[in-house]
Amino acid sequence: MLPMHLLLLLFSFAIVMQSVVRGASSLPHPGCPDKCGDVDIVYPFGIGPGCAMEEGFELHCNKSQDGHKNVTYFSKLPVVDISLLQGQVRMMSNIASTCHNHSTTYLLDFHGTPFTVSEKENMFTVIGANALAFMAGARQSAIYVIGCLTQSSPYKNLTAQEGLCTGVGCCQVALSSRLSYHNISFSDANASDENASGMDGERHCRYAMVVEADKFKFHTAYLNATNFWDEHKGEVPIILNWAVGDKTCDVAKKDTASYACRSSNSYCINSTSHPGYLCNCSEGYRGNPYLSGSGGCQDINECDLNPPPCPGYCINTQGSFFCQNTKNRSFSHSGTAIISVGLSVTVVMLVIAVTCSYLIRERRKLANIKERYFRQHGGLLLLEQISSGQGTTFTIFTEAELMEATDQFDDKNVLGRGGHGTVYKGTLKNGTAVAIKRCISMTDEQQRKEFGKEMLILSQVNHKNIVKLLGCCLEVEVPMLVYEFIPNGTLFQFIHGINGCRSTPFSTRIRIAHESALAMDYLHSCASPPILHGDVKSSNILLDDNYSAKVSDFGASIVAPTDESQFVTLVQGTCGYLDPEYMQTCQLTDKSDVYSFGVVLLELITGKKALSLQGPESERSLSMRFLCALKEGRLMDVIDDHIKGEENVGLLEEVADLARQCLEMAGENRPAMREVAERLDRLRKVMQHPWMQRNPEEVESLLGGREPSVAGVEMVSSTTFLTMEKRVGLLEFGR
Ligand SMILES: *[C@@H]1O[C@H](CO)[C@@H](O)[C@H](O)[C@H]1NC(C)=O
Ligand SMILES: *[C@@H]1O[C@H](CO)[C@@H](O)[C@H](O)[C@H]1NC(C)=O
Ligand SMILES: *[C@@H]1O[C@H](CO)[C@@H](O)[C@H](O)[C@H]1NC(C)=O
Ligand SMILES: *[C@@H]1O[C@H](CO)[C@@H](O)[C@H](O)[C@H]1NC(C)=O
Ligand SMILES: *[C@@H]1O[C@H](CO)[C@@H](O)[C@H](O)[C@H]1NC(C)=O
Ligand SMILES: *[C@@H]1O[C@H](CO)[C@@H](O)[C@H](O)[C@H]1NC(C)=O
Ligand SMILES: *[C@@H]1O[C@H](CO)[C@@H](O)[C@H](O)[C@H]1NC(C)=O
Ligand SMILES: *[C@@H]1O[C@H](CO)[C@@H](O)[C@H](O)[C@H]1NC(C)=O
Ligand SMILES: *[C@@H]1O[C@H](CO)[C@@H](O)[C@H](O)[C@H]1NC(C)=O
Ligand SMILES: *[C@@H]1O[C@H](CO)[C@@H](O)[C@H](O)[C@H]1NC(C)=O
Ligand SMILES: *[C@@H]1O[C@H](CO)[C@@H](O)[C@H](O)[C@H]1NC(C)=O
Repeated sequence: MLPMHLLLLLFSFAIVMQSVVRGASSLPHPGCPDKCGDVDIVYPFGIGPGCAMEEGFELHCNKSQDGHKNVTYFSKLPVVDISLLQGQVRMMSNIASTCHNHSTTYLLDFHGTPFTVSEKENMFTVIGANALAFMAGARQSAIYVIGCLTQSSPYKNLTAQEGLCTGVGCCQVALSSRLSYHNISFSDANASDENASGMDGERHCRYAMVVEADKFKFHTAYLNATNFWDEHKGEVPIILNWAVGDKTCDVAKKDTASYACRSSNSYCINSTSHPGYLCNCSEGYRGNPYLSGSGGCQDINECDLNPPPCPGYCINTQGSFFCQNTKNRSFSHSGTAIISVGLSVTVVMLVIAVTCSYLIRERRKLANIKERYFRQHGGLLLLEQISSGQGTTFTIFTEAELMEATDQFDDKNVLGRGGHGTVYKGTLKNGTAVAIKRCISMTDEQQRKEFGKEMLILSQVNHKNIVKLLGCCLEVEVPMLVYEFIPNGTLFQFIHGINGCRSTPFSTRIRIAHESALAMDYLHSCASPPILHGDVKSSNILLDDNYSAKVSDFGASIVAPTDESQFVTLVQGTCGYLDPEYMQTCQLTDKSDVYSFGVVLLELITGKKALSLQGPESERSLSMRFLCALKEGRLMDVIDDHIKGEENVGLLEEVADLARQCLEMAGENRPAMREVAERLDRLRKVMQHPWMQRNPEEVESLLGGREPSVAGVEMVSSTTFLTMEKRVGLLEFGR
């Protein structure tokens, strides 16, 4: 078996090598200072020729006036610190002042630089008695003026308050966004009104500035003499936003020569304060996204975190990590188990593999990488599947074909972006609409593995509620998967989207749940070997033309281990859906999928998200919230208003009970997916039963006559039947 694994290893290694070589040019030359005074200078900023990405990011390092330390300057402004990932810098800006016999204005102009004044962090602030100051600014081409007037103290019954900027002695006004320029001046009407302050007439002053709100605190002593100026030495901190260039991500990406996100594990974000964009490291990485190679985004070793993320042996991988809680050999164990499925093919493969691996091994010394890539068995298994002739509709596409289908991967065709890849809509030559999943960067081991796994799993299954894999593109640099196109988005969008579930009747929701359950049951019981989805959530359930469910995204799936010693585990999944037992044992089981499915069920009946970041802690997780409500007998409080109708009460209770069982803490107490599907099926039958189509008198006589033949009818009262007919008739969805 080993040489086959080796083949895959070598295959993957070749990909890694290629991308490493391709991205090797890094920009700032090695001699650039990385510190000046207390400021860490990070690229794209730089000091000295050739160190900054472009002129606007050039800084200077000069001796401070007293000559004791170095100070970093941007133009004439001292820089205090640089935040690379937030796209901000803190600089010191001057204070405009007016005293009894003179007045200064203050102008700050960032036109033509990468900076704008942050409207979130800064406030226009005026100090003094009876001071009226104005700030004129420019937002792109429009001029905008704000003013702020302070009252003298005491004003009416108010006095200046220590620590508070209340309008007496101190006032503050928020700024507008995208200010590239501001000009602060005082109204000179009362500049010489010495009596107004009621203090130390000769020397009292008024001040106006744009200042970082968190760093400013008003003290009543500032109203006296020149205390404020003296304390701050005439300058205050101000936060500026910066961004690269003046294009959005999509446009910038096209020009690879100037595209600033050079690290292969980085992504691009449109700036909210600029026309330009910012770069950030992908999840699981940290470092400088503007640099390629070793200075760029590097893998975070999660296993070194304190506390370590999982019990047992933690194995770090690129961008993620594994938890392995049995013997070290378990990886090879499960490999063997899966491979035994396609034994006949393996013999043929073996011969090829031995030859290839020998040849390639001669060329590269890889001994220490074997173990690592061995885990990426997904690709290998796919090769087996393809060569064994399964899935006759499976097509190998060329890159050119897919480029054409997606208009060169134009952004207007993007259907969605995940952490690992982008999904495009495409139209093949024969007119078939397809969805094409393309990994952002295949240097990421995790992605390659998921890619291979997804191919493997999807090429094996054939179920009407599972998204179909039509083919793939195996050109080494950018592997891609081609699926059937599912037009109506995800269940998540459907439930939580703009129009929400509002008009969706209960029966449609139950149908979607039932179809998803069928797909999950198929994976658990009918696929051979069984497959665990591993990341069941509403955003992984797609909806087709008829709003039928199609389970998708098998990136986190695993082939179920066949005995206890073979747990191969990977902590993945999504907060809010994760099986609590799985978090403790790190063992993914079919009951973990049942748990996640329970959460999806809750989303369907409550219309709420699995995890909300608002509200008290106990309310954040939908499952907790639901279980609490159920315990306290407040079920109806959490049910979506749109399906709460009296006629649904019995059915809702049944669904809630099913969800509760799926959410049992102990996996063994949860029902199997088969049972879940059966119970949902019964509910559907009850709702669709021909009685419902007849008129009420008939139904009544029917109910009076004989026992209903459909199982599960017990819990539905006769009134439920009577009213449900109308409801279903009125609201039947999507027709
Ligand atoms: C200031 O910078 C120069 C190089 O620009 C360096 O040689 C010197 O040590 C620095 N001084 C301080 C106090 O950091
Ligand atoms: C810092 O020094 C550079 C030359 O070394 C000079 O051009 C620049 O004006 C100086 N900046 C400040 C704020 O002193
Ligand atoms: C970049 O990522 C870090 C960590 O994930 C996050 O804190 C930061 O807000 C991100 N920056 C932007 C501009 O989104
Ligand atoms: C302001 O007045 C003081 C004395 O009150 C004087 O010393 C100073 O030169 C004056 N400044 C200006 C700019 O007129
Ligand atoms: C100010 O205080 C006085 C006495 O303390 C009170 O009579 C008056 O109503 C107050 N005025 C206002 C505007 O609060
Ligand atoms: C700044 O504002 C003052 C007062 O409004 C005005 O006289 C001056 O021309 C302005 N400066 C610029 C550069 O706009
Ligand atoms: C200027 O002072 C006069 C007299 O002290 C006062 O009536 C007026 O309200 C003041 N104007 C402003 C803008 O503070
Ligand atoms: C300032 O106050 C003094 C007495 O407190 C008064 O004589 C003088 O007229 C006042 N000046 C003005 C401009 O109101
Ligand atoms: C104003 O400040 C000076 C010194 O800064 C102090 O001597 C004086 O007492 C202060 N006056 C008031 C009213 O606080
Ligand atoms: C950036 O902004 C453009 C134009 O507003 C938009 O089409 C694009 O989807 C955005 N890209 C990202 C990555 O947010
Ligand atoms: C399992 O692997 C870890 C590191 O990979 C090693 O430290 C440990 O000794 C191994 N345990 C066994 C039982 O082989």
